[in-house]
Amino acid sequence: MARHLLVTGGAGFIGSNFIHYILRERPDWRVTNLDLLTYAGNLENLRDIEGSSNYRFVRGDIGDRQLVDALLGGDDWFGPVDTVVNFAAESHVDRSILDPSPFVDTNVRGTQVLLEAARQAWLGAGVEGGRRDVEHRFVHISTDEVYGSLGPDDPAFTEENRLEPNSPYAASKASSDLLCRAYFKTFGLPVTVTRCCNNFGPYQFPEKLIPLFVTNALEGQPLPVYGDGMNVRDWIYVDDHSSAVLAVLERGRPGEVYNIGSDSEVPNIEMTRAILRILGKPETLIRYVAGRPGHDRRYAIDASKIRAELGWQPAYRFEDALERAVRWYVENPEWWQRVRSGEYRRYYESQYGARLG
Ligand code: NAD
Ligand code: DAU
Repeated sequence: MARHLLVTGGAGFIGSNFIHYILRERPDWRVTNLDLLTYAGNLENLRDIEGSSNYRFVRGDIGDRQLVDALLGGDDWFGPVDTVVNFAAESHVDRSILDPSPFVDTNVRGTQVLLEAARQAWLGAGVEGGRRDVEHRFVHISTDEVYGSLGPDDPAFTEENRLEPNSPYAASKASSDLLCRAYFKTFGLPVTVTRCCNNFGPYQFPEKLIPLFVTNALEGQPLPVYGDGMNVRDWIYVDDHSSAVLAVLERGRPGEVYNIGSDSEVPNIEMTRAILRILGKPETLIRYVAGRPGHDRRYAIDASKIRAELGWQPAYRFEDALERAVRWYVENPEWWQRVRSGEYRRYYESQYGARLG
């Protein structure tokens, strides 16, 4: 089936990699990218596919019901949307500590607006209405952070773990997961939730650990390691996340949750040293700084359900993928220098003749 995807947050890190991945793997599909272009959205990530006949960009808020209704029911060549993949979010934990409000607005309320618009468009006002001949899918992209934090000897998170979010970001994502569950249970909306571990790869906003440390090191600036550097994250190359989301939207069961991960747990200080090693930069750049309040100690994902049920497996080995990702930043200094200076926002203004707020 040649799908029409509404990808939200497609100008961000994972969303833009996912759109590239889909247009490579499913060239007959159509993709509408709805993105508000917050500080994290960057159309330069999609420059190479601008003007493609099966891709279009719409600037807007997932919380704008009128706009979302119009996109879901579209009657132009792109046609109605049969699949929503919801990446749009405020995604950075440190920002959620400084100001939780936008996290509730987008991650909770925005997701509910999308769910409600999909319910109306796909099921009609009641559960019995709607186009039953079309196979609809709503894939909500969540995170392992909803499970809280693990001790050193705890088993990895399974889909059965309790939700114990610790940051305002994680709490807002857990809330949206529960709304997805309610829309499936109450209305029969075909929603599936994915919970992935930490992603890395090209086009990641340089506030996150890997791109921040790579670009700081390239500029000879210090690398601020929080606490004792022994917090552990479980890492996955972004294209492996994309292939898992594709498997879920094609073969995943509505109402289910699928964890996504590739068994690559690394303490932050080891990650920091690996980055410096790849770049040939000195460890004297490392600075230990105060930890993040409520800093989760360890994440680890058990992805056996998606592997067994959907036959998904990661294609990248962690060490090779890290080297590949670090090289991307080395080879694309103009991309991250424009992001770090704020210059990238002018690209939108020159392309679309409108100013960003
Ligand atoms: P990102 O911050 O790089 O991108 C988020 C995108 O959403 C941006 O383009 C932004 O402009 C857009 N956006 C924000 N608010 C919006 C709104 N109200 N309406 C429309 N668009 C809006 O984030 P990311 O790292 O690419 O994460 C994408 C998704 O994946 C998020 O839902 C995040 O919770 C989830 N996730 C991220 C990771 C990770 O390691 N980065 C891991 C697991 C899950
Ligand atoms: O686990 C999935 C999550 O991964 C996603 O849901 C989030 O959207 C994504 O931002 C990421 O969250 P983290 O908080 O794990 O990522 P971050 O890159 O911010 O931090 C990774 C680890 O590195 C964490 O233990 C904090 C630490 N850190 C981070 C920064 C930015 C530092 O030590 N120094 C830093 O400057």
